[in-house]
Amino acid sequence: MTAVGIDAIEIWTGKLMLDLPNTFAPVKGDDPEKYTKGLGLYASSFPDTYEDIVTMGANAAKQLMDRHDLKPADIGRIDVATESAFDHSKPVSTYIAGCLEQVYEGDFRHANKGERKFACVAGTQSIDDAYNWIQAGRNRGRAALVIATDTALYARGDPGEATQGAGAVAMLIDEDPSVVELSTEQGYGSMDETDFLKPNQQFPSVDGKRSMQVYLARMREALEDFESVAWDTHPDDFAYIPFHTPFPGMVRKAGLLGFRHMIRDTEIEDELEGEIGRQPREPDFETREDYEAAIRDHMDDLKRTDQYRAWYDATIEPTLELSSTVGNWYTGSVHIARVSALRHGAETGADLVGSKLLVGSYGSGAQAEIHAETVQDGWKDEIEGLNIDEQLDARYDLSWGEYELVHDVHEYDKETDIDVEEFTPPSEEFVFTGWGRMNERRYEYVE
Ligand code: HMG
Repeated sequence: MTAVGIDAIEIWTGKLMLDLPNTFAPVKGDDPEKYTKGLGLYASSFPDTYEDIVTMGANAAKQLMDRHDLKPADIGRIDVATESAFDHSKPVSTYIAGCLEQVYEGDFRHANKGERKFACVAGTQSIDDAYNWIQAGRNRGRAALVIATDTALYARGDPGEATQGAGAVAMLIDEDPSVVELSTEQGYGSMDETDFLKPNQQFPSVDGKRSMQVYLARMREALEDFESVAWDTHPDDFAYIPFHTPFPGMVRKAGLLGFRHMIRDTEIEDELEGEIGRQPREPDFETREDYEAAIRDHMDDLKRTDQYRAWYDATIEPTLELSSTVGNWYTGSVHIARVSALRHGAETGADLVGSKLLVGSYGSGAQAEIHAETVQDGWKDEIEGLNIDEQLDARYDLSWGEYELVHDVHEYDKETDIDVEEFTPPSEEFVFTGWGRMNERRYEYVE
C-alpha cells in the first residue's frame, strides 16, 4: 500500500496571550498553582481584533505553502476542521482559499473543499478523509491541505474559561510523506454523549467533570478497538504518545490509564507486583463499585512508581509543552501535541526515523480515535523550520481589562462595532477587514 501521511506542517498562534497564574488567577481569587500544577496551563493564546479562524488558518497555510514552494495547482483538496465556524452554509475552506488566491498565481477552482465537524476530533477526521482520497487514487497526483483552526472561547465565568485558546495548524497530506506515515489500523470509541455542545450558540454548554470521564471512557474503548486490529500495545512501542490536550492535566489522567492498560499481563506488571501488587481484575470483586475503588487505589500507587514516572517523562510530558502555553486549540490540539513531541525529539538529538507515535484524538459529543504513525526521514528538517517560538515570544501580554475587551470583540452577539484598537500591528499576514453586502466576512493581505 502507498505510504500516506503528513508531509508538512505549520502552526499559527493567536497573537495575544493571557497569563493564567499572574493575570487570571488573582482576579478569580484562585491559587496560581491551580492553573500551573492542577490544569498544567501557564497561558492561553487569543486572537487580536483583526484575527479569526479564517486569518489564522490562511496564515498557517501560507507559511506552509511558502516554505515548501507550493502553488494552488499542487493542492487538490482543502479541508478545514473547526468548531468555531461563523457560517452555517459556506465552508471556512472557501474563505481560506479566497485569501490564498489573493497572494498566489493560479486558483483553487480544481480543489474539492469542505468543512469537518465533530468537536475536537474533526482535525484528525479531515486527515482521514485526505488519506482515503489519496489511497483511493482520486488525487491526480495532488496533495491535500488540512487546516484545523479554532477560537476556543468559553462564556465569561464558565469553569472552562481557564482552558481557552486560539490558533491554527495547517498540514499537507501526501504520498511518501516527509514527517509521519499513518497506520492503516485505527480504533474508535464513539457514543452519543451530552457533555460539551453548542446548540446554535457560540460558547459551549459544558458539564466539565463529566466531560473528563467521557474523554477517558471513549479513549479506553478506542485503544481496545485499535488493539483488536493492530497489536497488543506495550509502553516501549512508542517514542511519544500525543493525546488531544484540552489542558495538560487531562492528559496526565489519560497517560496513566493508558500505561495501566498497556502493562497488564506484561513483564512490567510482574516487576511492579512486589511494590504495588497486581492490577485488580473485575471477576475478583463482588460489586462494580468495589472493583472501581480498588482500581483508583491501584492507580494512585502506580503513578508514584519509578517505572511509570520514567515512561511518563519520556513519552507523554514532551507532548504538552506547547499546549501549556497556548491552551486548548480544539481541532488543532492533538496536532500541536505531535509537534511538541517532535520538537522535543529534535532538541534532544533523538534519532526518531522509524519510531512510532500513538496518536489519541478526541472530540466531545463524543468520539475518540487512535492510530499509530511512523516517523519519516524529513521530520527533523520540517520541525526545525517552524517559527513557533518567535510567534509565542511576540504575543502581546493582555491585562485583565484588555482581556475582557478582546473576549467581547470576538463574541458574535455583542455589538459588532465595539471600537477596540488592535494590540499588535499586522505585518505580512491576512487580516479581517469587515463585513460585505451579504454579511460575509472580508479579508485582505497586509504587506
Ligand atoms: P475547575 O472546577 O475549575 O477545576 O474545573 P478543579 O477544581 O477541578 O481543579 C482542576 C485541577 O486542579 C484538579 O486536579 C484540582 O485538584 C487541581 P485533579 O483533581 O482533577 O487532578 N487543583 C490544584 N492543584 C494544585 N494546587 C492548587 C489546586 N487547586 C486545584 N492550589 C474543568 C476544571 C476541567 C472541569 C474546567 O476547566 C472545564 O470545564 N473545562 C472545559 C471542559 C474540558 O476541558 N474538558 C476536558 C475533557 S473534554 C475535551 O477534551 C473536549 C474539548 O476539548 C471540547 C471538544 O472536543 O470540542 C473540551
